Amino acid sequence: MKPLKKAIFPVAGLGTRFLPATKSIPKEMLTVVDRPLIQYAVDEAVEAGIDTLIFVTGRSKRAIDDYFDRSPELEAELEAKGKTEALEIVRNVIPSHVKCFFVRQSHPLGLGHAVLCAADFIGDEPFAVLLPDDLIDGTPKGVMTQMLDIYRRTEKAVLAIEEVPLSEVHKYGVIKPKNQDQYPLEVAGIIEKPKAEDAPSNWSVVGRYILTPDVMEALKNQEPGTGGEIQLTDAIARCVSSGGFVGHPFHGRRFDCGSKRGFLEANMHYGLK
Ligand code: UTP
Repeated sequence: MKPLKKAIFPVAGLGTRFLPATKSIPKEMLTVVDRPLIQYAVDEAVEAGIDTLIFVTGRSKRAIDDYFDRSPELEAELEAKGKTEALEIVRNVIPSHVKCFFVRQSHPLGLGHAVLCAADFIGDEPFAVLLPDDLIDGTPKGVMTQMLDIYRRTEKAVLAIEEVPLSEVHKYGVIKPKNQDQYPLEVAGIIEKPKAEDAPSNWSVVGRYILTPDVMEALKNQEPGTGGEIQLTDAIARCVSSGGFVGHPFHGRRFDCGSKRGFLEANMHYGLK
C-alpha cells in the first residue's frame, strides 16, 4: 500500500452564492474568524501527514496563490518593527516541508474535471481531495487523520459520510451501503444528487475523500452527468464494483460554508471556541 502524501484542493468554482463578494475575492479566502477558509482545510491535510498540496484554481483566484507564497516585504517590515508574534503567524501559514502546486481549470466543468486537472501531479499514487467549503471541526482528530487511519487499516478508498434528512439528499452524492451496521460502511454503489425517492440511503458524501489512482483513470473518459458537469461521484461509481471503497461516518461537526447560514454558524463556532 502506497502512503498518502498528496492532496487536491479544487477551488475553481464560481462561488455564486457569495456574490458580489466573490466577484474579486475567492470564496476560499473569506475568513472564518481570523483565517481564510482554505487554511482550515490545508491544516487538516498537513495534520494527516500530507506534504504535497495541489490547488486547482480558476480566474479571480490569484489571491490563493499569493496567500501560500512568501511575503518578503511584509516579513521584513514586521521584523524591523520587532513584531515577532505577527511574523510567526505570517511565516507559519504553511510548514517549510510542505510543497504547493497550482494548476488552472480554465472552465468550471465540474468537480470531477477539476480533480482531473491535477492528474499529472498524482501519477499512480493514492490522493486526498478536500473541498474547503466543507469546514469540519473533527474530534478528537481532524477528519483527514481519521480517514487515513481507516485507509491504512482497510487498504481501501475512504469517503467521509454523514446522515442527512431525505429532503436534503438531492444536494449530495449518496452511497448505497452493503450493510448498515458494519463499520466502516462498505460502499456498494453511489449516486450524485438523487431525488429523495431514488436515494439508496441517506448517507451523504461530504467534501473529504481518499481515492486510489483508478478513480483518476475513470475521470479521463467521464461523460458529463448531473447539471451537465463532469462529476467525481460518477467516476467513483464506475470503480465501486471493485469493492475497494468504504464510507467513514466522521467524528466532528461540519459547516457548509458554501452557504451563508453554514458560513455564519462556522464563524460563531470558531469565534466562541
Ligand atoms: P460548489 O458547486 O459547491 O461550489 O462546488 P461553487 O461552484 O464554488 O459555489 P456556488 O454553488 O456557485 O455558490 C464544490 C467544490 O468544487 C469546486 C468548488 O470550488 C468547490 O470547492 N469546483 C466545482 C471546482 O473546482 N471546479 C468546478 O468546475 C466546480
